[in-house]
Amino acid sequence: MTADTRPRTALDLIAMKAAHRPIVMLTCYDALFARLLDSPDVDVLLVGDSVNQVLAGHENTLSATLDQMIYHAAAVRRGSRMLTFVDLPFLSYQVSVEDAIRNAGRVMQETGAHGVKLEGGRPMAATVSALVERGIPVIGHIGLTPQSVHALGGYRVQGREADAAGRMEADATALEAAGACALVLELVPTALATRISQSLTIPTIGIGAGGGCDGQVLVLHDMLGLNEGFEPKFLKRYAELAGAVRAAAHAFADDVRSGRYPDAKHSFE
Ligand code: KIV
Repeated sequence: MTADTRPRTALDLIAMKAAHRPIVMLTCYDALFARLLDSPDVDVLLVGDSVNQVLAGHENTLSATLDQMIYHAAAVRRGSRMLTFVDLPFLSYQVSVEDAIRNAGRVMQETGAHGVKLEGGRPMAATVSALVERGIPVIGHIGLTPQSVHALGGYRVQGREADAAGRMEADATALEAAGACALVLELVPTALATRISQSLTIPTIGIGAGGGCDGQVLVLHDMLGLNEGFEPKFLKRYAELAGAVRAAAHAFADDVRSGRYPDAKHSFE
């Protein structure tokens, strides 16, 4: 039997980078999937505010609320004991450092999560540092930051031009200095993401940021093929579950309409 070497704390993520062990992160929004993912294959669960799109059907993440994130994070924690980070939703941390501390504190207290993730570079450094100083581990998120989708003009690759790349490198350095334990890099050209990864001692976790990051994250429902029609270039599907769901519903309907279900085996004497 192999020892379970999964990270248990935010500090383990930094140790994994030092040991050149790639970090595997998946999003998770509920107890059922948390139980399924609780294996040495996965290092970290992220209760992403993408839940607002993937499960709640909204166009973007902007309307996600703190209560919604706490509801999903508490469910995930009931389903597994794994290292779990939770997205702070839009406007729960941008207005003031006090807000950020209070809201991140609620996430930690009410869900039992191990830390929070927030979006933004240098303007968020003071907030990251205030949270870390109060004992709340923080993962930063730069590149395409979905809560700023309107300002960024859509879901597009960031940092293609030299000055934008330079700003992203400065953001990464500032977040590391502020005490972030890892950085998500979303939709970043491979060369830039690799350069940022090599310049930091904290790990980078990429999504659409190429193979030079220290780890990778995907939205669970996307990689399971449940989110039909969502086919960005970076997404690799590891299952095609949408088809299986449709086929099961079709077979059930067929059985009900033809009287094959319920049969004696599935009925009580
Ligand atoms: O909300 C989310 O799921 C995320 C990941 C895409 C990194 O932020």
